[in-house]
Amino acid sequence: MAPLDPHSYADGESPLTTHVALTLYLDFATCSLHGSALLTLSAPHSGSLSLDTRSLTIHSAVDPSSLSPIPFSLSPPEPILGSKLSLSLPAETPLSSILVSFSTSSSSALQFLSPSQAASPFPYAYTQCHPIHARSIFPCHDTPAARIRFSALLNIPSSLSAVMSARYHARRDPIPSEGGLSCPDSLWCAPGRIVEQFVMEQSIPPYLFAFAVGHIVCRDIGPRTRVYAGPDVVDEAAREFAGTEEMMRAGEKLFGPYDWERFDLLVLPMSFPCGGMENPRMVFLTPTVIKGDPAGAHVVAHELAHSWTGNLITNKTNEDFWLNEGFTMYAERRIVEVVQGEERAALNMGRGWKGLNRTVERFRDNMEFTKLKPCMQGVDPDDVYSEIPYEKGFQFLWRIERQVGRPVFDEFTKKYISTFKFQSIDTETFIDFLKANMPGIENQIDLRLWIEGTGIPPDAMEPVSAVYNKIKTLASEFKNGQMPGKDEVAQWNGQEWQLYLENLSSNVDPSQALALDARYRLSESRDWEVKVAFLELAISAGCKEYYAEAERSLKQVGRMKYLRPLYTALAKCSDEGKMLARRIYAESRNCYHPIAQGVVESILSKHA
Ligand code: BES
Ligand code: ZN
Repeated sequence: MAPLDPHSYADGESPLTTHVALTLYLDFATCSLHGSALLTLSAPHSGSLSLDTRSLTIHSAVDPSSLSPIPFSLSPPEPILGSKLSLSLPAETPLSSILVSFSTSSSSALQFLSPSQAASPFPYAYTQCHPIHARSIFPCHDTPAARIRFSALLNIPSSLSAVMSARYHARRDPIPSEGGLSCPDSLWCAPGRIVEQFVMEQSIPPYLFAFAVGHIVCRDIGPRTRVYAGPDVVDEAAREFAGTEEMMRAGEKLFGPYDWERFDLLVLPMSFPCGGMENPRMVFLTPTVIKGDPAGAHVVAHELAHSWTGNLITNKTNEDFWLNEGFTMYAERRIVEVVQGEERAALNMGRGWKGLNRTVERFRDNMEFTKLKPCMQGVDPDDVYSEIPYEKGFQFLWRIERQVGRPVFDEFTKKYISTFKFQSIDTETFIDFLKANMPGIENQIDLRLWIEGTGIPPDAMEPVSAVYNKIKTLASEFKNGQMPGKDEVAQWNGQEWQLYLENLSSNVDPSQALALDARYRLSESRDWEVKVAFLELAISAGCKEYYAEAERSLKQVGRMKYLRPLYTALAKCSDEGKMLARRIYAESRNCYHPIAQGVVESILSKHA
């Protein structure tokens, strides 16, 4: 049968799952989950049904009403897709639901942290399912073409609490037999266990399934927003994100009603591999976004913007990823413009422009991945993750905005969102909608070049802004031995420094890097963006003086945005750097999320 998505075993002909009722027992001793999933299909079905799994042990599959077994087999694991779970539903009585019980072993979505790794007296566990890791938590149609609602019972140690990308329902004692076939009552109802219950009534792609369990406390920061974090960071986080409601109002004005009721924020431990993850109702954030600098709020603006673009309208497969991320960059910058002004938004765009150009350069031997819609057959989305869908996607939408004018484009965006909300769509659907609503647009913009072409189209545009231009001029003077003066940088915060560093040429003289740091202490910056941009530059320039700081940083943080440049710079610069990178990774591997481990391993093997 025709596959629906290059990253899923779901076929185009069998019905997809529309609801999952999960029971999950979290076993901190073995770092695993024991669970059952009651899957409801969009229509009764008989014959074969394929589900995605990765590193799951399947204990049983049954018809939930009769408890009669459903024959199943699990294919050998395939590196990108995982193992196909093939079920044979009875021919005589088509089934609309199936109950599967399973355990996880080394789940690629899940990280268990010991108390020391969580920097807490308590252990911690959390998921990161985007893009194709939900299948390592429970068997599912793990394609964004499927949309599911779910309910969940999490059985956890009673000293901890749980949060989910769902509506909180209750905390209560475990009830015998509700653990089902995967979890005996001796475990489910053991002393010191508690059940937290959640329901998600809005349909979401499976990659938005998320939970976290740990010593988590919260503070209200707005009528719809609460910050959740460890007790040591929660107050600082509440201060940092105080402007969230204002951003929500700006988003609603631009893109229509906020449809998810609550917008809570969870600050995770330092190992969280992303800057932010747009889990619905509860965004997950790295603690590195807390910097006491309002410019850092753009990450929250970004994840908030996904509430419309990504979560309401979802890319149908990862080949259409730009529909999620390009639209969200555009929406993020519109929100930033409202709450922080045009100058901030322009700096943000300037950073993106630089990133886009750097990324196209990086992919010069693999131009397929500079396309807005690349072919992803046989490609792991985590391996080709880049700024292309973000920044080329942004540029495409900004180009359309320039063509038709902002008021027309704003009307279009609102209509686009209300037309396709709670649907998963592909690029072609977007283009058809664009042409239908902006007659003749294809004669004004070469849409095919934007979608199918490689590199940066000639009608893309570098943003114009006085501050951005000034920073670029200062950066271009660096190679003549000139450093910005104290008065010139007096008003700079992290974003300006980041832009300055990114615009310095890639082959900087080591003594100059040292001099810049002696003056401005960039290697010790509290702002991780600045610190990492500087360390990358200095290490690439050959300054061994910074190996120790790079090691400290790599042992402190698990955000891939920082691991990538630092490990790459070390692995590329010298044999000594390479050996250091290997030793640091061997010593830190267990502190990184499995997805981040994969990223570092691929960097180290590329530079073997
Ligand atoms: N959804 C992404 C994070 C992601 C992408 C996770 C692909 C796994 C695979 C999220 O919305 C995102 O883009 N986060 C950015 C921050 C943003 C300000 C660009 C990040 O994590 O750096
Ligand atoms: Zn995003």
